[in-house]
Amino acid sequence: MASELKVTVPDIGDYKDVPVIELLVAVGDTVDKDQAIATLESDKATLDVPAPEAGVVKSIAIKVGDKVSMGDAVLVLETGAAAATAPVPAAAPAAPAAPAKAAAPAAAVEAPAPAAPAATTAAAPIAVTIPDIGDYQDVPVIEVLVADGDTVEKDQTLVVLESDKATLDVPAPAAGVVSGLVIKVGDKVAMGSAVCTITGAGAAAPAAVAAPSAAKAEAPAASGKVDAAPQAAPKAAPAEAPPAPPATASSDVVPYASPSIRKFARELGVDLARVSGSGPKGRITQEDVQGFVKKALSSPPPAAATTAAGGGSGIPPIPAVDFSQFGAIETKPLARIRKLSAAHLHRSWLNIPHVTQTDEADITELEAFRKEASDESAKAGGPKLTLLPFMMKAVAKALDAYPEFRASLSPDGESLIHKHYTHIGFAADTPNGLVVPVVRDVDKKTITQLAIETGELAKKARDGKLSGADMKGGVFSISSLGGIGGSHFTPIVNAPEVGILGVSKAVVKPVWDGKAFQPRLMVPLSLSYDHRVIDGAYAARTIVLLVKLLGDIRRLAL
Ligand code: COA
Repeated sequence: MASELKVTVPDIGDYKDVPVIELLVAVGDTVDKDQAIATLESDKATLDVPAPEAGVVKSIAIKVGDKVSMGDAVLVLETGAAAATAPVPAAAPAAPAAPAKAAAPAAAVEAPAPAAPAATTAAAPIAVTIPDIGDYQDVPVIEVLVADGDTVEKDQTLVVLESDKATLDVPAPAAGVVSGLVIKVGDKVAMGSAVCTITGAGAAAPAAVAAPSAAKAEAPAASGKVDAAPQAAPKAAPAEAPPAPPATASSDVVPYASPSIRKFARELGVDLARVSGSGPKGRITQEDVQGFVKKALSSPPPAAATTAAGGGSGIPPIPAVDFSQFGAIETKPLARIRKLSAAHLHRSWLNIPHVTQTDEADITELEAFRKEASDESAKAGGPKLTLLPFMMKAVAKALDAYPEFRASLSPDGESLIHKHYTHIGFAADTPNGLVVPVVRDVDKKTITQLAIETGELAKKARDGKLSGADMKGGVFSISSLGGIGGSHFTPIVNAPEVGILGVSKAVVKPVWDGKAFQPRLMVPLSLSYDHRVIDGAYAARTIVLLVKLLGDIRRLAL
């Protein structure tokens, strides 16, 4: 049975009229128990008001800019059957077993006290300790945002604590330099636990402020925050079982954000140092974090893909080197094609788990035939017949037998898109970089037609006259370095294709025919494939077929 729970501002120490700086829910929202519903910010600290129970927000009594004190109405929550048993419906959220004065709910984690009243100009070191955090003991330290030697501003967050109910910042009581940091992520602390010492011009501590004490009434404003006696405070409890959340002190500047926003950012893996705040005084809001994530997800993968340094996808960047220190240098801008192909190759290399299967095909007979046919073609005014059109024809035949080499993974990786056409691209070397023009319907064309077409496309490529359409629609690629030299190499799959054949220079080798070594012209083949789509056995069968087809081109006619 549903019931209504009036949520009020919990015990926030002796603070009165604390501004509401953020409202994190709206009427109709469903909230979880302990979810932050509003953020308050005193002149010293930021704290969240969590929902005491799960439920639906029925009405909200505060708005951003309101000033609230303990007991003020925040909102009304419609809770489930369990809520009906809430003992103090009209009071601050009931903290489990919170006694007497400390009846503060978890949300009431006390704001770190303001710095001591009258800072003097003396640079006496201040021992910073954990302020009054209510009756909580053993609260884990989830972030340490400073290190020894850091210069901090007054009120800059030093460490973040997280009880099972709320997150709390411990700010610097004064500007100065941090030393003697005795706290680390995973430590469990309580009021009075030592944090560090701050020394500096503005770091003077008022002698009047006592060491942390349970007597909240005595020095509520200081409540253990400032201790005139350096290092006198109790030591932070040693970590028992460090929860080890990722420490995020990734920048010298601690981002200005409430604990709940920092928690939210941590959960999403967002480095707040990279988020700009749109809130008052540059505060980072939940929308800022969401906007940052949205932008990151919708941006094309990385600039990193186009830079030599890389560094995207968590890959450590290559450090920049000043080459001029070793000799004369000259910097020339990259041609557009080279930049585009660099980005594309990088993307393919990073996204595709590559395997390269190699073999050698005996093209002795093919070569004899090719030369004879090419001479005849030339005499009749036809095209020169190089090895490439023969390779294309053999590949087209192999793709018919092993069609998965013609497929592509769907963008969500859930299915395989089979293409029933055989458009094959070939890598062409141009003065401006690598391009891959595509020959359509290779399976339906003769060797002579393919020779004409590849010759025309290669010329267009060299002249920089290929259109976008000339380079689209391929299902598989061939990269032939045979006219240049080298044995095997590992071509990069031309995504979203799943296979590419590398052809190296054919050389005459002694091949054993069962009785004797015979001089045979062997062409090295390197078949790279996307192992998410193609199994090793499938690839091996494909290259074996290719070797067979090239070894006896009569099979191409079958
Ligand atoms: N083994 C031995 N000789 C070969 C050969 C091979 N695998 N492939 C080609 N040749 C020979 C040709 O038969 C020709 O010989 P010939 O002049 O005696 O008739 C000569 O090498 C030159 O051929 P080529 O100009 O390479 O023509 P092609 O049709 O084989 O290749 C291109 C055309 C466009 C593929 C080629 O010019 C090219 O640009 N290759 C580089 C591709 C590349 O950069 N790949 C790397 C991508 S990472």
